[in-house]
Amino acid sequence: MSLNSKIKLEFSEKYDSKHSLDYYKKHKEGLGRRLSNWREQNIAGKALKIAGNPSSVLDIPCGAGRFWPLLSEMPDRIIYASDYSLSMIMVAKKILDSYIVSRIPCFQASAFSINLKSDSVDSIFCMRLLHHIVDKEHRMALLKEFNRVTRDTVCLSLWVDGNYKAWRRNRLEASRNRKGYQNRFVANSKVIESEFFETGFEIIGQIDFARYYSMWRIYVLRKKRS
Ligand SMILES: C[S@@+](CC[C@H](N)C(=O)[O-])C[C@H]1O[C@@H](n2cnc3c(N)ncnc32)[C@H](O)[C@@H]1O
Repeated sequence: MSLNSKIKLEFSEKYDSKHSLDYYKKHKEGLGRRLSNWREQNIAGKALKIAGNPSSVLDIPCGAGRFWPLLSEMPDRIIYASDYSLSMIMVAKKILDSYIVSRIPCFQASAFSINLKSDSVDSIFCMRLLHHIVDKEHRMALLKEFNRVTRDTVCLSLWVDGNYKAWRRNRLEASRNRKGYQNRFVANSKVIESEFFETGFEIIGQIDFARYYSMWRIYVLRKKRS
């Protein structure tokens, strides 16, 4: 058993059948959520363009398949999807358009230990996972695994500082004086960018959900050539 396959995150266990369905519905509910989902899809599409419209993509974690319609817009793209939670994958398969589902092979895996050969895909597409990975050691393990599996690029989203929401979150956290397990974190952009570099990537693009307001940012990374 590799060291990476022993990494377990507390938050990973919460995505049972009920939570998975709730997660799918969450992004469809109310005008605010639908607008936010629209913008997220929009910046994810821009990230794929910066990545050079990759011909093969691994969507991990795929969750309930929120990005499958976007990824499928390129008719000849080869798409794989994976998630730690089988319930999430089941919800995606049940709910999404059957043609889209039929073209996406899915498998259960931890993003720390992906059951694919090195250089298997042109790009790894990783939305809304990294902001859950609080320990640097775990982030480094994840990024190294991505560097192994992708041939070329990675598109990933996370929370960064330097905006109103991060400032507000910091203030709230300070007033709550919270101790114990934290399952989400706001990255210092300089620190996370140095982690990308240390794990063998260069940054070829970054897109903010709403600059100076929102914490969400998508980075597009390219594997450094040795
Ligand atoms: C916030 S959801 C994001 C899902 C999808 N990317 C999206 O944006 O709709 C987080 C997902 O990470 C998955 N997950 C948790 N730990 C994981 C791990 N170690 N490896 C792969 N997926 C994991 C969960 O099962 C869940 O589907």
